[in-house]
Amino acid sequence: MTKILAISGSLRAGSHNTGLLRAAARQAPAEVEFELYDRLSDLPPFNQDAEDAPGEAIEDMRARIQGADAVLIATPEYNGSIPGVLKNLVDWASRPVGKGAPLYGKPVLVIGASVTDYGAVWAQDHLRKALGIAGARVTDFELPVARAGEKFDEFGELQHEETAAQIDEAVAKLVDHHRSLGQAVRS
Ligand code: FNR
Repeated sequence: MTKILAISGSLRAGSHNTGLLRAAARQAPAEVEFELYDRLSDLPPFNQDAEDAPGEAIEDMRARIQGADAVLIATPEYNGSIPGVLKNLVDWASRPVGKGAPLYGKPVLVIGASVTDYGAVWAQDHLRKALGIAGARVTDFELPVARAGEKFDEFGELQHEETAAQIDEAVAKLVDHHRSLGQAVRS
């Protein structure tokens, strides 16, 4: 069994990125367990003074990352980069610096959707860079879902076969990445 924590960088109710993660969970093989992280808006803005007593929402987020074998992140692109709320999570999860950080050594794969022709490629690139600096083991896989508005139905569910197949490929790649790193679930 591989446990994947799925994190969407969008707080929007009809988010295409959250829709990608729901599709990933729905399509996943039986040996993959998905948990969708849904408390991004609960995280306070990062404050280095609060690192030692960051509060319940941060402790919960850290525990969920630590309890997962791997992390799948779907990011929108805002003004050519990562949404601030998602960068905030990465900053919290990168501390305490080094091996104590939840992201340290964690296998991570990044995907992204945007309504433009580019599929959030800059945001995915910037996110992979930040995660790598935080010590995560980031796969080089990229999944730019362009013109996302045409690929989801009115309920926010993915309706695009090619993208669905690419999500399967991404999840398989992340599971392989986790296995090849020989990661054990950290308690
Ligand atoms: C955007 N969008 C956007 N798209 C893109 O491809 N490159 C960009 O730089 C931006 N910039 C941007 C800034 C802001 C403030 C907003 C609100 C939007 C469009 C964005 O891709 C689109 O809204 C996505 O649908 C957002 O993802 P979710 O919420 O559907 O997951």
